Amino acid sequence: MLKGKKILLIISGGIAAYKSLELIRLIRQEGATVRCILTKAATQFVTPLSIAALTREKVYCDLFSLTDESEMGHIQLSRDADLLVVCPATANILARMAHGICDDLATTALLATDKPVMTVPAMNVKMWQSPSTSANTKLLRARGVILLGPIDGDMACGEFGPGRMVEPEFILSAICEHFKETALLSGKRALVTSGPTFEAIDPVRYLGNRSSGKQGHAIASEISRLGAETILVTGPTALEAPYGVSVVHVETACEMYQACKAALPADIAVCAAAVADWRPEKINAKKIKKSGDPPAISMIENPDILGFLGNTKLDRPSLVIGFAAETGEVLDKAQKKINKKNCDWLLANDVSLGTNVFGGETNTIHFISKAGAEPWPKMTKKEVAKRLVLRISNHFREVPTNNG
Ligand code: CTP
Repeated sequence: MLKGKKILLIISGGIAAYKSLELIRLIRQEGATVRCILTKAATQFVTPLSIAALTREKVYCDLFSLTDESEMGHIQLSRDADLLVVCPATANILARMAHGICDDLATTALLATDKPVMTVPAMNVKMWQSPSTSANTKLLRARGVILLGPIDGDMACGEFGPGRMVEPEFILSAICEHFKETALLSGKRALVTSGPTFEAIDPVRYLGNRSSGKQGHAIASEISRLGAETILVTGPTALEAPYGVSVVHVETACEMYQACKAALPADIAVCAAAVADWRPEKINAKKIKKSGDPPAISMIENPDILGFLGNTKLDRPSLVIGFAAETGEVLDKAQKKINKKNCDWLLANDVSLGTNVFGGETNTIHFISKAGAEPWPKMTKKEVAKRLVLRISNHFREVPTNNG
């Protein structure tokens, strides 16, 4: 199951460190190689000698050890791995990771990596529940770090509650699941649009809309998590760049159109942006002053990005997906849109006042394809992203591409 995979296991200093020995045995049994970095505190709980015997690899302990640095520096250690697993992850190492502190080999390798990182927290209940640890884990999750557990249970300190490390068998299945999922879209290239566009009227004013970008960003993040090279072209939003995604920031529909054209070729295009349909024909160089009648703004149509991606003869992505924001007669209007824009799938939603779709956390989708319409239950935007991206990966498994 893990044949050929390389795991860099970082063991930090908690009583649960002894369970990492069993984890090493299980991972190696599945065919992966395991290299270990021990923090100084970890060496109080497990010895480098027993780790070396189990991994059959050199064990790395100290950033300032010249031998470690000359043989295999921290950059090389994380570059060589397919996945970094921090097990057990103490409150201390989670805090150092969250704040970019790199004062030993373990945290330096973690800061230097561009590989996925899985952490397995284990600590006292109060430490796990402290506002600091909660804020740190929230930060780490937002950056794409995977957290496994902890679970409720009896602890070495005599207390009971959340803080107990999950068992090595559970960690192994999460590692296997991770590799299975991240291979689903590997080798694919995806383009996602997100957020609103702003169309300037004068240096002060613009025409915009209420799109928050949450849906498009969640889709880009999920596509990237499943292994596709992902480019997110986004209008102005308050959101952080999703982990692992290349982000192109634009303001206007014309800029978004140019950025999307430049991002081709792509296998997948998902247009989740709320692109302004029109822009002022001319941008006033100076602020329009209040004098007499309100100004009449003459508008011209913006390029239709989804329409272009669906209809282009050159470089059409093999799967083109759009959204349809409608207020009433959602299905009828969405059917017309799928034909006009020649997209493969359309996710239609009702954005009438009161539905709170724009800016909100949830979405109620009608999934429309050539096969017909399928209502999805009300879901969070992250759940919509997961369901859509799983469908995308199934599509590529069912429809072989030119290169196989
Ligand atoms: N879209 C686009 N470029 C535009 C307008 C829309 O790429 N200039 C995309 C949106 O990202 C979405 C889909 O087209 O995926 C439908 O957007 P929507 O606003 O619902 O439809 P419009 O084409 O703008 O038509 P209308 O506003 O008349 O409903």
